[in-house]
Amino acid sequence: MKIEIKGLNKVYPNGNHAIKDVNMTIESGMFGLLGPNGAGKSTLMRILVTLMKPSSGQVLVNGMDLMKDRKQIRSMLGYLPQDFRFFTKLKTYEFLDYAARLAGFTNAKIRNNTVEKMLEEVGLYEARNRFANNLSGGMKRRLGIAQALIGDPKLIIVDEPTTGLDPEERIRFRNLLTRVSDKDVIIVLSTHIVGDISSTCTDMALMNKGILSYKGAPERLIEMAKDNVWKIKATETEYFEIQDKYPIISSIPSEEGWEVQVVTKEINGYFGERIEPNLEHAYVNYMENELNQKWIEI
Ligand SMILES: Nc1ncnc2c1ncn2[C@@H]1O[C@H](COP(=O)(O)OP(=O)(O)OP(=O)(O)O)[C@@H](O)[C@H]1O
Ligand SMILES: [Mg+2]
Repeated sequence: MKIEIKGLNKVYPNGNHAIKDVNMTIESGMFGLLGPNGAGKSTLMRILVTLMKPSSGQVLVNGMDLMKDRKQIRSMLGYLPQDFRFFTKLKTYEFLDYAARLAGFTNAKIRNNTVEKMLEEVGLYEARNRFANNLSGGMKRRLGIAQALIGDPKLIIVDEPTTGLDPEERIRFRNLLTRVSDKDVIIVLSTHIVGDISSTCTDMALMNKGILSYKGAPERLIEMAKDNVWKIKATETEYFEIQDKYPIISSIPSEEGWEVQVVTKEINGYFGERIEPNLEHAYVNYMENELNQKWIEI
């Protein structure tokens, strides 16, 4: 599988320029789309699932044009929208059975097996006879995940799939995605949660204000943050100064005051040491440098 995005722009009717000249290629595997609120993640995903037309540019899926070969591409798709909601009188089982029908399962026996297996995988088997409308928020989310994955889609687009899931469910979901991901499948996953990406994705993109600012392996982003992450031992007074000066990743109270992790090139005058960056550090480091560059331009 391969998605090629070329010169993509989306301007909403009210003038919001949500996607700005995005170019990238996504290959089989798990692809993480990371970015702050309003970055354009959902907009890009809605374009990828053919629910919305771009203002300009082109998307090819295995060489097929997204706009021209809509029907064919839709048959490969599984999609979980960010605001997955439903109003239905159906029970959980019936809801998923309906999704399976839409996904093309005509044989009742096979459909039955598939639905039951999926209910087990997302931990909703016990709740199968409950009305879908009455499920908890996290359970509805899991039903959303189930309907996106049913029918072995080759192109799985999940928008903030882990929102509202408890930590255990989040891990379960990650494992589920890892299981369905094979060499023929693309999974595009958007998130605010850096941890969702570091533990699963081999390739990722960072978006900010409609612009694609990074595309590549998470490890490369981490490499870029090398030397820029510090652990400072600070007194109470210093701690307040540091808060104003550097982006803080974490702070733990210690015997002498605080142990603070910050992202910066130098920690002029404070007592501390460099530490190995993780993806969360790398994300903050990258966004900080982006902001600084913007300031220089102004
Ligand atoms: N229907 C719409 N009409 C006009 N502007 C919109 C519409 N939908 C989104 N936007 C704007 O487009 C930009 C990108 O929004 P989008 O929802 O794609 O971002 P996002 O990265 O998914 O954000 P979040 O992390 O909050 O979900 C924002 O400035 C948003 O206000
Ligand atoms: Mg969104």
